[in-house]
Amino acid sequence: MTDTQGVQDFEGLKALVTGGASGIGRATADLLAARGAQVAVLDLAPSSVDKPLLGYLADVTDDASVRSAVAAAVADLGGLDVLINNAGIGAQGTVEDNDDAQWHRVLDVNVLGMVRTARATLPHLRESAHAAIVNTCSIAATAGLPQRALYSASKGAVLSLTLAMAADHVREGIRVNCVNPGTVDTPWVGRLLDAAPDPDAERAALEARQPTGRLVSAAEVAGAIAYLASPLSGATTGTALAVDGGMQGLRLRPVGQ
Ligand SMILES: NC(=O)c1ccc[n+]([C@@H]2O[C@H](COP(=O)([O-])OP(=O)(O)OC[C@H]3O[C@@H](n4cnc5c(N)ncnc54)[C@H](O)[C@@H]3O)[C@@H](O)[C@H]2O)c1
Repeated sequence: MTDTQGVQDFEGLKALVTGGASGIGRATADLLAARGAQVAVLDLAPSSVDKPLLGYLADVTDDASVRSAVAAAVADLGGLDVLINNAGIGAQGTVEDNDDAQWHRVLDVNVLGMVRTARATLPHLRESAHAAIVNTCSIAATAGLPQRALYSASKGAVLSLTLAMAADHVREGIRVNCVNPGTVDTPWVGRLLDAAPDPDAERAALEARQPTGRLVSAAEVAGAIAYLASPLSGATTGTALAVDGGMQGLRLRPVGQ
């Protein structure tokens, strides 16, 4: 299988994508496979994954579940070169709105989930000549967004974790980077819009927040993740790549002014 440009930079490489059954993770798994990788997806809902992707049931909040799914995937793939830490969940509200159980839950999935998969995969990544980890972070790590206190704290931790891991593993030949998407048109955002009092107005507000005037696509985030994971980016480690329609870096004047 080839992508539209016929780039096969992942030929012979083996990749694992958490949360790869939906949205950004699914688009990433599909793109890596199209560019030549053998790809394993770890997810709560692996049955929605079909060939050439391999699906494995795993809950990133459960260390035993992660370890056994990683062991099965690495055995089936015959090694591992690329880890995409992407599984994550959202939370809404100010710092007053989420109780301790919600804080523990979101940090457990979004931060410790990445720690567990990294711990389980690092011994295999050390064996690779092209080892790379890409974490799915968020613009919420670098910009203050209203009603996202818990979610932002989790993604801020992911950004710092990415830098610390990049430092720890650079001399082992393992690169670690993250992507910071803006609002991406995935099933997750679809669920948020469905829950809004006026979904059309909510979508328009989210689109207007991005200088490009539209939501980011899952394929665009997958492209950035593939860029960071590719052997072609062998000198890039410890970076956060914004994929946000200019939301973090640009300051536009209102339309017509
Ligand atoms: N959609 C956005 O606007 C947006 C923006 C910035 C960052 N992100 C990040 O992108 C990542 C993916 O988001 P998405 O929009 O594609 O969401 P999504 O809900 O479409 O997909 C998330 C996937 O993760 C899986 N998952 C959730 N909890 C899990 C667990 N405990 N163990 C294993 N798998 C689990 C789900 O089953 C699902 O397949 C998340 O880390 C999210 O924080 C999303």
